[in-house]
Amino acid sequence: MLVAPSILSADFGRLSEEIKAICEAGCDLVHVDVMDGHFVPNLTIGPVVVNAVARATTKPLDVHLMVENNTFFVDLFAPLKPKYISFHIEEEKHPHRLIQKIRDYGISPAITLNPHTPPSTIEYLLEDLDMVLLMSVNPGFGGQKFIPSVIEKSARLKEMILRQNAKTLIEVDGGVNNHNVKALRDAGVDIVVAGNYVFGASDYKSAIDSLK
Ligand code: DX5
Ligand code: ZN
Repeated sequence: MLVAPSILSADFGRLSEEIKAICEAGCDLVHVDVMDGHFVPNLTIGPVVVNAVARATTKPLDVHLMVENNTFFVDLFAPLKPKYISFHIEEEKHPHRLIQKIRDYGISPAITLNPHTPPSTIEYLLEDLDMVLLMSVNPGFGGQKFIPSVIEKSARLKEMILRQNAKTLIEVDGGVNNHNVKALRDAGVDIVVAGNYVFGASDYKSAIDSLK
């Protein structure tokens, strides 16, 4: 299992130290939550802070957009060269076009599904996607309770990926901890995002190890 700690739960007063600590503790990606105060009822960070995050690590960045104007934010974050940019399918009229735009920047495109959104919405996009991000909480805040239906949803998505012979990875985000990670792995999940579980632990390395 690959682990992407969400810096939303980090101590922002010591952000570069926190990022160095999760990287030394063996994280695989650094998950960056971008919220615009419109798509979700919370506001986080823009390219100035994400640039500082990028400078504090050699690990790939996983940018999760929770915004209304996806194209604007893709153009804003692309110069920082994250590994992934994911956008919410619920907020995009032309997902196929946006996937190509992200790929043209040399970035891996990913789509995020809210808890209520079925995997069938992306059936005809799968072969163009490097990753699908399944939300296991309603987006907007760290530290929420895991919604268990994502386990069955991950298994359905995995079947769809195998049926299409696609290489798309599955990532799950929200309320992930040492109790639900095994069921996610069994359902075919490749990457878990963990905010509170990692940054709330006294020892980041043992928290990350327990998810792996
Ligand atoms: C929620 C964010 C998540 C969140 C995860 O909108 O997308 O990445 O920070 O935090 P935990 O693991 O605490 O649920
Ligand atoms: Zn996220």
